[in-house]
Amino acid sequence: MANKFPDNFLWGGAIAANQAEGAYNEDGRGLVQTDVTTGGTKNSPRYTTYIDKDGKPGKVASMGHAGVIPEGATFAVLEDHYYPNHKAVDFYHRYKEDIKLFAEMGYSVFRLSISWARIFPNGNDETPNQAGLDFYRSVFEECRKYNIEPLVSIWHFDTPLNLEQNYGGWSNRKLIDYYEKFARTIFNEYKGLVKYWLTFNEINNTVMFLDMLSVIAGHEATDEEYQVAYQQLHHQFVASARAVQAAKEIDPNYQLGCMICGITNYPATCDPADILATEHAWERNLFYCGDVQVKGKYPTYAKRLWKERNVTLDIQEGDLEDLAKGTVDMYTFSYYMSALVTTHKVDDKVGGNFSMGARNEYLTYSEWGWAEDPTGLQYFLEKIYDRYQVPLMVVENGLGAQDVVGEDGVVHDDYRINYHRNHVNAMAKAIDNGVDLIAYTTWGCIDIVSAGTGEMRKRYGFIYVDMDDEGKGTLERTPKDSFHWYKKVIASNGADVD
Ligand code: BG6
Repeated sequence: MANKFPDNFLWGGAIAANQAEGAYNEDGRGLVQTDVTTGGTKNSPRYTTYIDKDGKPGKVASMGHAGVIPEGATFAVLEDHYYPNHKAVDFYHRYKEDIKLFAEMGYSVFRLSISWARIFPNGNDETPNQAGLDFYRSVFEECRKYNIEPLVSIWHFDTPLNLEQNYGGWSNRKLIDYYEKFARTIFNEYKGLVKYWLTFNEINNTVMFLDMLSVIAGHEATDEEYQVAYQQLHHQFVASARAVQAAKEIDPNYQLGCMICGITNYPATCDPADILATEHAWERNLFYCGDVQVKGKYPTYAKRLWKERNVTLDIQEGDLEDLAKGTVDMYTFSYYMSALVTTHKVDDKVGGNFSMGARNEYLTYSEWGWAEDPTGLQYFLEKIYDRYQVPLMVVENGLGAQDVVGEDGVVHDDYRINYHRNHVNAMAKAIDNGVDLIAYTTWGCIDIVSAGTGEMRKRYGFIYVDMDDEGKGTLERTPKDSFHWYKKVIASNGADVD
């Protein structure tokens, strides 16, 4: 039986400002952490670079999305290092060409993020940077020209560097106000051009990442690290809730979503201890954020999580009211893989970003160690819809792979087509089972810089970009086989996936 998707289902793709735009120091844009972060590989980390208090250059492995530099050091761009996000794939200058190609695929939605540092270069400036506002206006107008609905992430791992350097980033409560001001500015500015907004990309990474430290860094996260992570999250929850309230004030038609890094957790064995550990992993890494942002309050198990790690949250007057008033309209998430949870010793580990843990013998793994599991997507959709009962969007899903350009100049990426076909079929099954899924934006529509490794060779796009890991290439765009496949899928509203 052919897949059946709702008539107005939104099909498209997704990118993030810092991974696509480049033009890192043009038209008044301020710096963000990726601008001081080098490229890495799947086996070696990216480094955040700095000048220490004695004027000596240095670098620190960037864990997750933030390298913590020594006391008294200043983030710095150093000579003799390559920073892939500086140029990225030059979306800043080529967006018209790119959006035209997206339109050719038949997109009805395009997910992108607004760089905070293009609008407020230091994060806390009095007035916004007009050139930044103009840039996104022009991008949105270009989308509208082709009837493409922009889906806008307000924050995608790119807090202005000044706020990281001089305020301590999201550990500082002041960021709530700065973020709210940024959000209000863009809600006012793009009224009538944008309808869908996501407050924080993969907000749950902050805590989920700590679970992975033992594998990545060889040590368990400390209670202090959990204290910092939970406090940062609290500030982001309040900032998100304030933004939702501001959005509704400015335009009641605005639709706001949370954005969760969706990883389906399975118990590795039927040992009851593994079943319980898996349920607790869902609570800690997935439900904690969704529950606050969709239901508007901390869940019962939050007390247990804080107690386990000796966390004392600084919750100020008015915060809980804000959380209750600022609930999101929809639940959106990225989905790349599933993971196994176990209390037993694991010998055969897998090495992807968040798929670390035991190897699942029923699944295959990408070159970067990410488990391909379309059934896990169906499972996630059904579980999450049942819990929240609000519209869902899959706003990232894709396969990072090394593409080879054929002699005919084209990438024949049947592996990527297979990956997406299986996930589209999984979405169709969940919809058939009653899930209110309203959009699918693949990651990415076009090759961009990898967030985790900073590589170009880890490609996700349906459009090939001639650019390598050293920054060499013409930046020319060429549709891959997956481009033509996706065009057919969209034209048939998901029915023709062959
Ligand atoms: C998600 C992020 O974690 O996964 C994206 O929202 C990221 O920014 C994507 O690019 C894929 O991860 P990576 O590390 O392969 O680029």
